[in-house]
Amino acid sequence: MGLFPTGIVDLFEIEKLMKDQFRWVTSWYRPLSRLIFGDQLSNANRQFLSADLKGNILIIGGGDGLDYVDFAKTWRGEYWELSNAMLEKAKTNLQDSKLSFHLGSFSSTTTFDWVLLPFVLDTMSDSDIRELLGKIKKQLKPEGKLILSEFFQTKNFCQKIITKLMIWFFKFTASHPRSNLPNYEQWFRDFGFELVEEKKWRNGWIRSQIWEVSKERPSQ
Ligand SMILES: C[S@@+](CC[C@H](N)C(=O)[O-])C[C@H]1O[C@@H](n2cnc3c(N)ncnc32)[C@H](O)[C@@H]1O
Repeated sequence: MGLFPTGIVDLFEIEKLMKDQFRWVTSWYRPLSRLIFGDQLSNANRQFLSADLKGNILIIGGGDGLDYVDFAKTWRGEYWELSNAMLEKAKTNLQDSKLSFHLGSFSSTTTFDWVLLPFVLDTMSDSDIRELLGKIKKQLKPEGKLILSEFFQTKNFCQKIITKLMIWFFKFTASHPRSNLPNYEQWFRDFGFELVEEKKWRNGWIRSQIWEVSKERPSQ
């Protein structure tokens, strides 16, 4: 009798592991990012955040959640991760918050005041970006804000090479579908967002941006 339920549980665990393309990268993603970029990626993720963010917060692809530990005690909202290994780390790191944790692609009927997209769009195909932005637009309150932190296209030769290496590395280790960086600004403008604030590092290669729904332009 004991064997059957355990077998089913194991099958679920195996299925979760198989689906978790980021599981090989989970333990060394942060050490590797620190080694190459120091605190810059964390700083980009945290640039416009504080414990005073009011309202419902949506975090998509937040990874291990460490960048939010200082603020999240007062936050409420939803944390969505595609990787079960990352999600489990985030649950531990953010256990003092009132965030709820969800495995899978974002799908919710809640409306949000803030949406955080931290180095996640560069791991997604164009069609997945289109679908995600459509869902976010529906669930973002009219005065809501979207915070993007990302690598941007660069003209610097060394930065171009490192970008290519990172893309190919994640393609190999985590089956990421892209061969280039998305044109984020075009995507956001097409969905009717406008840029309201921006901070750049390394001549604009790494950026953190705040976007809100444009009051002027009709959108998708
Ligand atoms: C490059 S890592 C960045 C992690 C973290 N945001 C950081 O800056 O340290 C991308 C993360 O996004 C997650 N991810 C990718 N696509 C996703 C999706 N559609 N929904 C939720 N999470 C996603 C991956 O599992 C991974 O943890």
